Amino acid sequence: MYQRDQDKQKSLLAKAAIEYLEKDMVLGLGTGSTIDVFISELSKVESLFSSLKIVATSKASAKKARDNRMNVVDPDKYLELDICIDGADEVDRNLSMIKGGGGALLWEKIVAYRAGKRIYLADESKQVTQLGAFPLPVEIIDYGHEWSAAAIGPLFKSVRLRKGATGNIFKTDSNNVIYDCLIKNEEKTADLSSKLSAVPGVVTSGLFDQFIDILLTCRNGAVKEISSKENVFW
Ligand code: A5P
Repeated sequence: MYQRDQDKQKSLLAKAAIEYLEKDMVLGLGTGSTIDVFISELSKVESLFSSLKIVATSKASAKKARDNRMNVVDPDKYLELDICIDGADEVDRNLSMIKGGGGALLWEKIVAYRAGKRIYLADESKQVTQLGAFPLPVEIIDYGHEWSAAAIGPLFKSVRLRKGATGNIFKTDSNNVIYDCLIKNEEKTADLSSKLSAVPGVVTSGLFDQFIDILLTCRNGAVKEISSKENVFW
């Protein structure tokens, strides 16, 4: 998929997502390049964004929202959110997702659990028949992470500690590390979550199963709204 087409789709998806917002809502704001486009689009609608309270899923999204004069609030002041809007790295035909390419998976999951309605934006490049071409991010606490990584190793084809651009170990906003893990073809992703959570030190993974209330995606350059598996077209 050409970058230009992908950028265009992100913009269409962002505009479609804004249609779900109402004045005075508490909005869970995702993370990633699609959400950056969403923030830019939302910043053009001052009558709407000025009334929103925003719980951000990363320091990066909080900064971008603040830079656009949005009201970013303390997550502990608003325990229930009206809606959350976020991106995805892969979405399969059962509407399960891999997320966390940007490293914000933990806060994204916390925010999604608290949201009354969860909307995900996925351009066509994110539609897959089976999850796993994109490595699954697994967030592990810093303390003793190499032991935890060795313990989850047999569950995957490979596990690789994420590094930043300068070669430093990547740290999440919660100061944890991430291992990017290639899923075995025969592995049932539904079982993976429980196997991972049995390993001390593992905080969460980028598997988001049963999170989607509404998926906004594209077909032939037009936005399609999907709210159940029966409507999946890829
Ligand atoms: C951030 O940690 C991720 O979960 C993103 O939501 C996901 O990686 C999608 O990112 P893009 O919109 O940049 O593709």
